[in-house]
Order: sequence, then C-alpha cells, then structure tokens
Amino acid sequence: MQDDIERILLSEAEILAGIDRVAAEVTAAYRGREFTVVSVLKGSCVFASDLIRRIPIPLELAFVGASSYGDGTVAGELQTNFFPADQEISGRNLLLVDDILDTGRTLQRLSRELEHRGARSVRTCVFLDKPARRSVEFEADFRAFEVENLFVVGYGLDFAGRYRNLPFVGALREEIYATAMRTLSEGGSPGA
Ligand code: IMP
Ligand code: MG
Repeated sequence: MQDDIERILLSEAEILAGIDRVAAEVTAAYRGREFTVVSVLKGSCVFASDLIRRIPIPLELAFVGASSYGDGTVAGELQTNFFPADQEISGRNLLLVDDILDTGRTLQRLSRELEHRGARSVRTCVFLDKPARRSVEFEADFRAFEVENLFVVGYGLDFAGRYRNLPFVGALREEIYATAMRTLSEGGSPGA
C-alpha cells in the first residue's frame, strides 16, 4: 500500500499536532455549551476519533452518512445515506466534522439539511481544506490543515474505498489512478 504513495504531505506527528490545535479551538468555542460532534462517514471517522479525545469538555457523538465520490477521483452525485435520529438533531448545537472540504457541496448540503431538521446551531470542522477546488460559497468554521489541489489519501481519506488506514496523508502515484480509471472505463471495478 505504501508503494502506491508518491509523497507524504502530512506525517503522523504533524497530523496530531494540527489536531491538538484545532481541538483547543473547538474546546474554547463550546466551553459551557452542550454540543454534539456529527462525524460524516466514512472519511471523517479517523479524524473525529482523534479530535474528540483531545476535547476535554462534555460532548455527544453522532454520525451522518454521505458519499459524493463513486470509485474515482471525480465528484459524482452527492448522496446522503442516513441522518441521526430527530431527537439528536432538534434543538442541539451540532459540530459537523468531515475529512476534507473540497467543492463544498457535501458540507453545505448537510448543514442546510440539519438546520432544516431543527438544529439550534450548525458549525463545521474539517481535517483538510482544498480551497482551490471550491465550487459553492462555503467555508469551514474550524480546519486542521490546508492542502494543495491534489488528490490525497490516508488518515480516513480513500481512493476507490482503499487507503483509509494509512496513518499519514499522501498523494497517490499517478499510475495508480490511471490504472483504476482504465479498469473503470472497461466496466470493471478498480482494485479488483
Ligand atoms: P465536497 O462535497 O466536494 O466538498 O467533497 C467532500 C468529499 O469528497 C470528502 O468528504 C471526501 O470523501 C471526498 N474527497 C474530496 N477530495 C478528496 C481527496 O483528495 N481525496 C479523497 N477524498 C476526497
Ligand atoms: Mg471519500
């Protein structure tokens, strides 16, 4: 798996230092207020689990399911798969946590939907931010790192479902997605 990585953008130590910083910001913002961390599955599960363990004030945890990428690196149709129960949303201060803010469509749509379902407040926290890719007007309230306009994997982020378990963030070697794209265009599944 490591052989598929062109270069490491963020080492494990750098990642944890960035999460310490963003966790302190979140803690200061929510001290004295009840709130729920809503982790967007699947990509944010690694970040969310490290983040919440660095927030030393009471919080609850919930999950929402969304997917915008099919098997490739190009955004497809955004789907929301499941939401927390109404009583976990209604009247609550929610902090939506995602792996990466790319076009902005996922978090914009999820924020609006949670507000529509009666959340008292919705803020957002992302592990990575790729501002060059934004296609809608949306910024996160908290972010750990800004990254250049590259397709990245690891630390929760996947390509065709793989690489989420890498403990660092890296750029995939060009031929990895070239091969996957060729397989896809022939009607197969990448990484078969
Ligand atoms: P957005 O709706 O375009 O902001 O996309 C957000 C989602 O796209 C993220 O939650 C990721 O699942 C996926 N995504 C965007 N960029 C990357 C990337 O570089 N690597 C892996 N997944 C990505
Ligand atoms: Mg993904």
